[in-house]
Amino acid sequence: MKKLGVTLLTAALLVGAADDLYAQDTAARAQVCASCHGEDGNSNTPLIPSLAGQPEFFLTTQLVLMREQVRPVAAMDGLLTGLDDSVLVALAEHFSKMPAKKTDEVKDSDRMARGKALSDGMRCTSCHGANLNGQEQMPRLAGQRVDYMVAAMKSFRDSTRPGADPLMANVVAGISDGDLHALAEYVSGK
Ligand code: HEC
Ligand code: HEC
Repeated sequence: MKKLGVTLLTAALLVGAADDLYAQDTAARAQVCASCHGEDGNSNTPLIPSLAGQPEFFLTTQLVLMREQVRPVAAMDGLLTGLDDSVLVALAEHFSKMPAKKTDEVKDSDRMARGKALSDGMRCTSCHGANLNGQEQMPRLAGQRVDYMVAAMKSFRDSTRPGADPLMANVVAGISDGDLHALAEYVSGK
């Protein structure tokens, strides 16, 4: 009986050690991501999106699409090759738990007002959540970089984003560059 107790205890310790190793592994991996996406998951680099506070499901979905080259990202080439689903989920969880901060990009009050009117009319909140914090496979827009969102929306509109969800492509069909910019500034500032 005593021996069994010791064995169980050892097994429990080993499982604990494996969990620690796993956590360390994720943290080390996330350091590589941080070099582009920001130390705290909030990006200071033009055209690189913030990952902090994104829904875990959204991040996992995008990481799988990227690993499978359905949404190839040249800057991340090779980074996700061969990684297990469980590693992608751990990375997604890591970044989704970080608090999202507002971007420091300069915003124009006329454009913000135009963006609000457009956003209300186009019901961005119906999918991206009441506070635009994202939900399920829909990304957070609040705090996201304006320059990245303008580029992303253009790529949905112009069908140049591989693996794009048609839900979003339909939303921006036929919208002008100026209106996309106004929308991006407004939703980012929410
Ligand atoms: C060399 C810079 C670089 C590194 C390193 C990098 N990324 Fe990226 N990542 C980018 C760029 C650029 C994009 C935007 C691609 C686009 O325009 O579609 C991106 C996009 C993403 C997206 C999509 C976000 C969105 O809002 O659509 C996710 C998720 C992501 N990266 C996760 C990661 C993770 C996790 C790592 C570490 C394993 C990582 N990235 C490492 C540059 C990088
Ligand atoms: C019918 C649901 C729906 C509506 C309405 C909607 N979106 Fe989206 N949006 C999505 C989905 C789904 C994605 C993820 C696309 C993908 O995975 O390819 C997305 C992605 C985005 C992205 C890319 C962000 C990133 O991090 O890669 C931006 C920017 C965006 N939406 C802005 C908007 C704005 C602004 C509005 C209002 C004008 C809006 N969306 C309305 C469903 C919607």
